[in-house]
Formats: sequence, structure tokens, C-alpha cells
Amino acid sequence: MRASTEPRIAPLTRRHLLSLVGGVAAASALGSFVRGARAATPTPSPAAAPFELAPLPYAFDALEPVIDAETMRLHHGKHHAGYVTNLNAALDKAPELKGRPLEKLLAELSAVPESVRTAVRNHGGGHANHTLFWQCLTPGGAPLAGPLAEAINGVFGSFDAFKEAFTRAAMGVFGSGWAWLVLTQGTLAITTTPNQDTPLMAGQVPLLGVDVWEHAYYLKYQNRRAEYLANLWRVINWPFVARQWQAARVGA
Ligand SMILES: [Fe+2]
Repeated sequence: MRASTEPRIAPLTRRHLLSLVGGVAAASALGSFVRGARAATPTPSPAAAPFELAPLPYAFDALEPVIDAETMRLHHGKHHAGYVTNLNAALDKAPELKGRPLEKLLAELSAVPESVRTAVRNHGGGHANHTLFWQCLTPGGAPLAGPLAEAINGVFGSFDAFKEAFTRAAMGVFGSGWAWLVLTQGTLAITTTPNQDTPLMAGQVPLLGVDVWEHAYYLKYQNRRAEYLANLWRVINWPFVARQWQAARVGA
């Protein structure tokens, strides 16, 4: 079992990143998770932002009672929207970056001009992380089964042991951040990142991301992060996570 609460952020070349997680497979997996983050259609104005906020794949109240509608409305419509707005504002200052895929910007932050690097890291990460998060959830949850279930059992011992380790990692995030199930060097692992950092920065493919910023749960759970995490298992979209994993593994 690999569980780390230490963010491992290192600049990587695209070639290095792909070699870590399986070449073409990695490109497919990364692309699949941020595809929804890209603008569906180009906007005509040169000042127009290339990234757009996609609608939630379900209604604001669809995850009740695990996550309340007001939290979802604010989280998506204010917080996530803010990351998109601020990412686009940063890219307006570095137009040479426009058109570059979001996952590439984040995996190769050292190639982003220093003047906008922090903004791309924070707001680009926020956009990518939330885009994945919404898809990792589904009303009523969808069960884990098949090869990913077997792989999780193999790596972590059992699904319950995985949930325990994941929850421990998520509880260990000091302040704001994320807990992740990732594919790294062909292996499933649990990791965490602070703020809006993404495992992409460490050459890892995020498969399941759980937002532990207080804005994700405070209205309903106040400071009870453990209760939020315990309930969140009821709405995880495991078939989506499994598709992310399969896409990352193809050709590995
Ligand atoms: Fe969030």
C-alpha cells in the first residue's frame, strides 16, 4: 500500500510523464478527464476565454442527502466558476499558452511563464480537479466491481482497507486540499495534494479525487470532515473511476 500525505511536485517533460504512466494510454487517460474542461466551441472574440464551466452532470440536489443542493450550487457556480474565470484571466496575459491542453499546462508548469505560473497552478488545478470531482460522483453511487475492484483488493488488501487508508489520508490534509487514488508507475496509490495542486504535477494520473476544502462540506457538516468523508462513499461513481484507470493502463 502506498499512502502519502506529502505532495510530490516536480516539473516533468511530457515524454517523461507519458513514460511513467504508459505512453499513449496516459495521453488517453489524461485527455479523458480534462476533456470536459476544454471549451466545447471556440469563442469569436480574441479576448474570450478558452475554458468554460461545464454544467454539472446531475441536478444540484441530486446528491442529497450526502451533499446538499446549496453546497453544490455554490461549489460549482461560485468556486469552480471562479477558477475558470481566473485561469482565463491568467491565459489572457500569456496568450502563447492558449490552446495548450490543461493537463499539459499542469504537468509542465515549469514551461509556463513565471508571471502566470502560480495562477495557472492554482486556478488551472482548481478547474481540472473540480472537473474530475463532479464526474467521480453520481446520485446514489455506482458500485465498484470487476478488474478495478480486484486491483484495489490486491494493492490495499480489501476495499474496506482501501477506504480506511484513503480516509486517513484525506483526514491528514492540513487545511485545504485533495485526496486521490492515482495510477503511478503502473500502480494504484493513495496520495494527497495541498490547495489546488494536482497529481499531474507529479506525473501521476488522478483516478478518484475527493475535495476536502471546507467549501465542499462546511454548510452541511461544519467542521466534521470525517462525517463528510464517510458519507461520500455513498455517491462515488466507481464505473467512471474504473474507466479512468482502464484508459491509463492501455498499452502500459
Ligand atoms: Fe472545491
